[in-house]
Order: sequence, then structure tokens, then C-alpha cells
Amino acid sequence: MQLWKGRFKKELDEKTNDFNSSISFDSRMYKEDIDGSIAHATMLAAQGIISADDLAQIVRGLNEIKSEIESGALLIDPNAEDIHTFVEGELTARIGQAGKRLHTARSRNDQVALDIRLYLKKECDAVYAQLTELIGVICNKAQKYSGTVMPGYTHLQRAQPITFGHHLMAYAEMLLRDKQRLADAKARMNYSPLGSCALAGTTYNTDRKAVADALGFDGVCENSLDGVSDRDFCLELAAALSILMVHLSRFSEEIILWCSWEFKFVELDDAFSTGSSIMPQKKNPDITELVRGKSGRVFGDLMTLLTVMKGLPLAYNKDMQEDKEAIFDAFDTVKMCLTAFIPMLDTMTAIPENMRKAAAGGFINATDCADYLVSKGVPFRDAYKATGELVALCIDKGLTLEELPIEEYKKICESFDEGVYQAINLDNCVNNRTSSGGPAPQNVLKQIERVRGLNK
Ligand code: ARG
Repeated sequence: MQLWKGRFKKELDEKTNDFNSSISFDSRMYKEDIDGSIAHATMLAAQGIISADDLAQIVRGLNEIKSEIESGALLIDPNAEDIHTFVEGELTARIGQAGKRLHTARSRNDQVALDIRLYLKKECDAVYAQLTELIGVICNKAQKYSGTVMPGYTHLQRAQPITFGHHLMAYAEMLLRDKQRLADAKARMNYSPLGSCALAGTTYNTDRKAVADALGFDGVCENSLDGVSDRDFCLELAAALSILMVHLSRFSEEIILWCSWEFKFVELDDAFSTGSSIMPQKKNPDITELVRGKSGRVFGDLMTLLTVMKGLPLAYNKDMQEDKEAIFDAFDTVKMCLTAFIPMLDTMTAIPENMRKAAAGGFINATDCADYLVSKGVPFRDAYKATGELVALCIDKGLTLEELPIEEYKKICESFDEGVYQAINLDNCVNNRTSSGGPAPQNVLKQIERVRGLNK
């Protein structure tokens, strides 16, 4: 069934119909399509463009269709051109004349633009809620491990002492920004394109604001050409989701490293790990690898959308039908990743002994050793050089800085005294890093409190 029969003498070629149709991926918007149509028809009646009786029939018919689709009693026809065509055709088959009046002062161009916005608003809320949950899980875990010393890395080389709690909270900060980005994009998307019609508005006395209010929008798109041509919200959301996937992918990469025998900083719950078909000893972090891998899909979706949009003249072009698969896939993928990632992280346990062993082995207290000399009045550059020589000496002797006798310290710089051992004690190194944003446990606990307050 097509809505544009009048000027055509032939049916659309069957294979072309399949090519042209979007029903296989836009039928998921049936509810938004129906809600939009009810708001539109209500406005038409209020403005005297259709009768109250027509409106009553339209609303009853559309509600019936909605509940029958939901119950499974009505199957969406896979040969329909799109969900808009299907719903209107079904309505007209049920109520006749009144159904044919629904599309007054409307085009599928503003209809589809409306439906996507309504649908994506809900998707934003769903991802937002998952992120809130994930940040909550991170805060609980960070609290548990706020005093667990581990090496912090740069260049994947042991660098300075931090705590596992501090490391985890870095991700909470990223994810809070992801929530903000989604909320910002949603707020910019929250304007109704309906009433833009095909591109040039209409001569009917419509009330666009009433429709926008009924559907929970903050206002209307102020230019009818822009209303039907704009897909910025798809681009913004795909970009926000891509950045979110960068964060999940980096987190996953770290968990993969931490699970390896080379690190063994964490243990994943058996319920969130998989085995090998041949190697009986294997316990693999598949969820994190899949999250890392699926980030590629979401970046691809963003590229698809940018490429589809970049050369389009105003206003609607059929190319824009390609927007839905990409942005739906991005949301589906992100939601699926989060669904697996959240309980995996929640059940992950740290192995503090191994973290501490690694922290003790890599001279990560060398900066603290140099800072100790600075506290004795030695300029930082000289203190840095002396500590470098000490590290070289330790490597030669197979000792840690803690194990090196004080005489050796004094040989390299006479400002050293026994106090240095306190200064390079790992717990002290962490506890003394009280600078704002630093890893001292009391700071991290404060940060957790702050994040919990923001994570609404
Ligand atoms: N299925 C179309 C889409 O998703 C709906 C809009 C069709 N408009 C048109 N003039 N052909 O973009």
C-alpha cells in the first residue's frame, strides 16, 4: 500500500518496493507515530479543521491499533512502505473517511522527524538511567577500595602510587560528563518539527505550539525547512554515544589487562567470564572485549550519519531514511553493552595484595624520595638527579628504595636522613597526596560523596 497513488499508472516494482521500504527498521516507532497522530488530530479538531466526530473516530481507531500491535493481535505488514503508511492505511481500513482526514496539514517529512525525536527522547532516558546505575556501582566499589594502594601508570609504566578507588573514580567523572552530553543533546532536540509539513508549512490555521505542548516538547522548530531537514540531534547523540563508548572501551581495556596473569589485579565473577573450548585453564574477559569491539560499531554509526547528511540540499531527501538504522544501532549497542558491563563490574573483586606488590616493585615512590630532599632545602632539579642515581644504584643491587641502607643514600646526597623511609612508605605516599583531586583516601571519599550527589 502506498499513500501516493494518484499520479501513478503502475504498481511499484516489487524489488524496488523492498529497497524503498523502511518498515523493517522504523516499525519500532509505531507508538510514537500513533501518539504524534493523536496530538495532531486533536489540534486539527480544536482549530476546526476536522470535526469532533472525526477526531473521536481517529483517536479510537489509533488507540485500538496501538493496543493490538502491543498484544500481538495486529501484525505490522512487512510490505508496507513505512510505519507511517502502515498506521494510516490500517486506520482508514477501520474507520473509512475520517481516517483519510488525519493527514491534513501534515507530511511524512515532518511526521518522521517528529517520530524519531519522540523515540530518541526515550532512548536518551534509558541510557541516562543505565549510566546513573553504573556510576552508583563505581562509587560503591571505589569506597570499598579507597585505601587499596596500586601503581598509577603513564606509558603503561609504573609511575606514582594511587589507590584503586581513585582509579575507579576517574571513570565516574567521565561517565558524569557522558550523562551531561546526553542531557544537553536531548534538550536541544526537544523541539517539535510537526507543522513544518513537507517543507513550506501550510495554509491551514494550525496550532503547532499546542501539538508541541501535548507531546512534551519545549517549543516548535522555528523554520519549516530546518524542521524537516535537521538531523543534528542524531549526529549529536551518536557523537555523545561514541564518546561514551570510548570511555567504556578504555575501562574494558584496563579490566582486560588487570585480569591477565601478568597483572592479576582483579578477578571477574564466573557468571561474567567465559572459557575456552580447548584450553581448560582459560577464564576469558569476553564481556570487556566485546564492549571494546562494539565501540567500533557506534563510531561507524556516527560516520554513517555524518556522511549521509553532509551533501544534502534542503529540505527532505530520501537519503535521510538512512538515519534510523544508524542511530538505532548506536543506542541498541550502547544499551546492550551497559546491560552486560554493569553487573560484571559490580561483581568484580580486586586483589589488593597483587596491587601492592606491583606498587612496591616499580620505584613509584621515587618522586616522593625527591620531594623529601626538597623538604630538606635541596632544589627540585638536584633532588630529582640524586634520586635518579639512587634508582640506578637500586637496580644494580636488586633492591627497592625502601631496602637501600641509609649510608648509600647519604653517599649520593648528604641531606638524606632516616626520615626518608617514612617519606617513601607507600601508604604515606598515598595519604600525603591530599592536593585537590588527588588519591589520598580522605579526598577520594569526598569525591565519591560529591559524585553521588550529582548522580541523579
Ligand atoms: N520512510 C521515510 C523516512 O524514513 C519517511 C519519510 C518519507 N517522505 C517522503 N517524502 N518520501 O525518511
